[in-house]
Amino acid sequence: GRKVLFFGDFGIDDIVALIYAFFEDEIDIVGIVADYGNVTKSTALRNARYLQEVSQSYEIPIIAGAERSALGTSDVFYPEIHGEEGFGGFIPPDLTNHFENDFENFHVIYDLIEQYNEDLIIVNTGRLTSLATSYILYPDTVAKVKELYIMGGAFNFPGNVTPIAEANIFGDPYSANIVLTYGRNITIIPLNVTQSAIITPEMINFIDKQNQLKQTEIGKIIKPMLNYYYQFYKAHIPTIEGAPLHDLITLWAIINEDKMYYETRPVKVVVNIGESFGQTIGDFRQMIQLADYPVHRIGLNYNYPAFINDVIRVLTSDV
Ligand code: BDR
Ligand code: CA
Repeated sequence: GRKVLFFGDFGIDDIVALIYAFFEDEIDIVGIVADYGNVTKSTALRNARYLQEVSQSYEIPIIAGAERSALGTSDVFYPEIHGEEGFGGFIPPDLTNHFENDFENFHVIYDLIEQYNEDLIIVNTGRLTSLATSYILYPDTVAKVKELYIMGGAFNFPGNVTPIAEANIFGDPYSANIVLTYGRNITIIPLNVTQSAIITPEMINFIDKQNQLKQTEIGKIIKPMLNYYYQFYKAHIPTIEGAPLHDLITLWAIINEDKMYYETRPVKVVVNIGESFGQTIGDFRQMIQLADYPVHRIGLNYNYPAFINDVIRVLTSDV
């Protein structure tokens, strides 16, 4: 399968994406970088460790990523969306013993990229702080990566944290700006795509029924986690029919090139303080001469039935 280094802020949709990756043969996770974002960095690390335990994937290094953004003010976490522990209504057992000083240091990102080189794909489903730090510390090394997939931004579509800004970008626009300025071979999967990549309560129940028969540990966490997440969305967006799997569709895009529709456009992140702080601007004008911002591939549409069928199939398969 594709070699993937996964940067995430392990709340619910990041966790579902990681579970999917563990179940899917076409993806080989070679490292996990856990960052602050939906939850604190230590909770994100603990969550990654818990998933490593229950999936018995001890060979995958877990790397301690960024603890805070480049904003210089206190960061905001989202327990109302992801739960206090990042697992929604599921309470993970106490793993304190398992994680004291037990994580790889940041420089292991360098080692992994040097090891896998142009075979490596990076997926980033949280704030861009750790990835920006990698570009600052190891620019020549990160440049060797084959491709980067980033869940973030909103183009000609409302934001989610502000009317125009999306959470992963708004949480640290300075770092997003660094990545989108220096990064090449970037695919952005914005809210335009992810907001409609929903899983409905009926699908959640179906997945749960299949997993109950198997009694796996991972199977037990899926329903309480996704139900909690869905309840938040339902309360805040009454018309939504399910919960958007932002981070999972971003990972799915890596192995479903032909089921996504992309446009390659100049992209800029607004870093001036003001109403538009954290907005992503894409130049979609039909002109010959476009803005001279760096050009990136932006996901604008996709095959929903293909996506959701894969989600149900993979999350109910035997590991
Ligand atoms: C993004 O923000 C986080 O809450 C989700 O995990 C996702 O990565 C959606 O805006
Ligand atoms: Ca995320």
